[in-house]
Amino acid sequence: MTNEKLTNVALTDRNDSTISNGKKPIWELTYKMENLISYLKKPDTAIVLTISNFKGGVGKSTLTNLFAYICEELGLKVLLIDSDPQRSITKKVLKNFNPIKKAKNTFMQGIKKNDLHDSITQLTSNLSIIEGDWELSTLERYSRDNFKIEAEYYLYAYLIDDLKKDYDLIIFDTVPTTTIFTHNCIVASDYVISPAQAEEECYDNTLNFMSYLSSMKQYNDKLDILGIVPYLSELDNSTNIKYLQMYRETFGDLVFENIIKRSARVMTWGTDGITENKGYDQKTLSMYIGVFTEFLERLSVLEKWGNK
Ligand SMILES: Nc1ncnc2c1ncn2[C@@H]1O[C@H](COP(=O)(O)OP(=O)(O)OP(=O)(O)O)[C@@H](O)[C@H]1O
Ligand SMILES: [Mg+2]
Repeated sequence: MTNEKLTNVALTDRNDSTISNGKKPIWELTYKMENLISYLKKPDTAIVLTISNFKGGVGKSTLTNLFAYICEELGLKVLLIDSDPQRSITKKVLKNFNPIKKAKNTFMQGIKKNDLHDSITQLTSNLSIIEGDWELSTLERYSRDNFKIEAEYYLYAYLIDDLKKDYDLIIFDTVPTTTIFTHNCIVASDYVISPAQAEEECYDNTLNFMSYLSSMKQYNDKLDILGIVPYLSELDNSTNIKYLQMYRETFGDLVFENIIKRSARVMTWGTDGITENKGYDQKTLSMYIGVFTEFLERLSVLEKWGNK
């Protein structure tokens, strides 16, 4: 990551003027943001992202869900891939969108057919998902029986290769363990974002996760860490503040300026779907839009958008 200072703001909070598009103020785009979105749309291949950490319950699937919701609002073409047999991201997005076209095959059937096209459920004209599938729990055994050890890691990379041309962004949501699921997502990805809770256990797991990512470069040398998104479970808690500081000291600019804070609204969204008109909706959405904006800014630095 460069030393370039990244701004800690949502779409409309910039000094930059906004473009009036008749939408709610939080969805009004600045010229800079519109520019970043146009760069993401430009290439004829998707950027592939995994949102992951070895710590469970730190808001990985929630962040993926919010990224999908924001991308849909911004008109980006996105494919979510739920690589968790527990189907957590699948359950969340199905609360926000009613599929317009259901997949013919499950994820595991697609893997066995070596073709995921028929495993895609279309949620809107821009947003699609390969739904999580309990049968994925047999993936490890299936791979062992059918592939050589190293080929096991390249299964997703191979399967999404032909899908990339149809999307701006492909996002994997996966399990918090060192299993074949995580290996496959990492090997298939260009970038990783790691949500991390500001407390001891998660700090230790994040250190391990970063060394794991370095070791995975032997299978995917184009992999880059886009950053660590801090998650504060208690706002005024001194442990949270201490560990946020430790993340910044250890990982420097890799740590996002924008942070996620615990919010009762997010818990309701998880069960009832995302809303925009209830108390704290706008404030909470702005927090995630801030993270998404910084994601695009970081991407623009690493992808050298504007320098090409
Ligand atoms: N910002 C937040 N504020 C409050 N609750 C949150 C927030 N983010 C996530 N949660 C809640 O924390 C719980 C775990 O979130 P989530 O499922 O996103 O975590 P995860 O890291 O994907 O978990 P797993 O490791 O099991 O896949 C959920 O109940 C979710 O609603
Ligand atoms: Mg999850």
